[in-house]
Amino acid sequence: MSFIIAAAGQGRRMGAGGNKVYMPLGDKPVLAYSLAVVEASPLVDEVIIVTRGEDIHLCREIVAAGPFRKVKEIVAGGEERQDSVAAGLKAVAPPAEWVAVHDGARPFLSLALLARVVDAAGKTGAAVAALPVKETIKRGNEEGIVTATLVREGLWSVQTPQVFRREWLVDAYSKAKENGWTATDDASLVEKAGYPVRLVYGEEINIKITTPGDMILARAILAGEWSCG
Ligand code: CTP
Ligand code: MG
Repeated sequence: MSFIIAAAGQGRRMGAGGNKVYMPLGDKPVLAYSLAVVEASPLVDEVIIVTRGEDIHLCREIVAAGPFRKVKEIVAGGEERQDSVAAGLKAVAPPAEWVAVHDGARPFLSLALLARVVDAAGKTGAAVAALPVKETIKRGNEEGIVTATLVREGLWSVQTPQVFRREWLVDAYSKAKENGWTATDDASLVEKAGYPVRLVYGEEINIKITTPGDMILARAILAGEWSCG
């Protein structure tokens, strides 16, 4: 399986003045954690990292320090996450039957979660890690007034990894380009292209580091202060 790591963001919500995937977490940068997991996974044959052009040198240093030998290519990303994954997908060689996409900002990927998503995708063609939402979700207008309260039952909060038949993902991305579809996760495009996507129980610990508070949480997780999930 080819494994694409989306790491070409700017970390605006982190507000640290740089790409959060290169921030230190414990003894290594955030990005190195998921790289170590895929390096160890027998399910992954090759890794493609997508990052901003100006960060490619940082990425190369991390790969060399690992060393992460499965990294086949480091490619430049685009304006939106979708553009970055599209760039990564171009680097996947056609013989690959399966492609996984993962956020570089999710360092606590586990081998077990990856295996679960791959297993489910093997049966259906596409699967994503996700958790049932815990809080009530409302829609608000620009003035901050509630316009709708969604029924929580059946709502899932989506994580990565997301695993797809390569041909499905390629087809979804080409249809997105043709029709101007935009999405914040890969599965949305695959769904829109008409393919079934299976939800697989993710892990609470598989957080996406987004804000400074998430960084504090990540340090607590590393320090072993995570006792459940
Ligand atoms: N990402 C990417 N290319 C982009 C934007 C995001 O590869 N053009 C990646 C990020 O590096 C991250 C993942 O997609 O690993 C999830 O995105 P997000 O959490 O939004 O990260 P950022 O875009 O960096 O953060 P922000 O939206 O706060 O600027
Ligand atoms: Mg973003």
